[in-house]
Amino acid sequence: MKWAVLVGGTGSNLHALLEQGIAVSLVVSHREGVGALGIARDYHVPVEVITAKTYPDRAQYDQALRYALQKYQIDAIAMAGFLRWLTPATIDVYGGRILNIHPSLLPAFPGLNAIEQAYRYGVRWTGVTVHFVDEGKDTGPVVAQLPIRIDPGDSMATVEERVHHAEHRLYPKVVEAMDKGWVALGHDGKIQWQVSQEEVAKWVSGLYSA
Ligand code: GRF
Repeated sequence: MKWAVLVGGTGSNLHALLEQGIAVSLVVSHREGVGALGIARDYHVPVEVITAKTYPDRAQYDQALRYALQKYQIDAIAMAGFLRWLTPATIDVYGGRILNIHPSLLPAFPGLNAIEQAYRYGVRWTGVTVHFVDEGKDTGPVVAQLPIRIDPGDSMATVEERVHHAEHRLYPKVVEAMDKGWVALGHDGKIQWQVSQEEVAKWVSGLYSA
């Protein structure tokens, strides 16, 4: 599978995917000058920067995005810090082949600043979620999650560090599982595992033991 990674930030998840050996054929950023672009260049991955100010509306923005994805014959998309909602037209084309990583245990704390939202709320557990992207906001079917404990006295910075560490463990494994065809999104909108129950259990326990 040829993957595109959609970014907009420091690129630490992009880095984790590249280190895992995922075939990243394109990196798209919605922002100039972000760390993720430097990482893409270090790994010789082609880059497209598509900024919102160049396109008058979401439909035209996404048309430019689809054009870039088609130019590189992209099969699947991993979103990692791309702060734009995809339009239904894009989700239709790549339906069931778009993953996103979100830094909370969805459905809790969707949207921006999820780590801070969880910290300020005072939950004792938060975590990270990898899910398929649908037309809602951080609502798509969940593939896998890792929990993170927040103890009294933990600083925001400590929690952030734990969350990012968990992201870098989880995302490459889920992308790899989809890449190998182990997991897919069914036409009924439900997660389908294409391997035996035993293998799924082994895969899941591998997530926790790293
Ligand atoms: C991650 O926390 C991810 O969960 C969220 O955006 C952040 C991107 O970080 N969607 P990075 O650019 O991968 O370091």
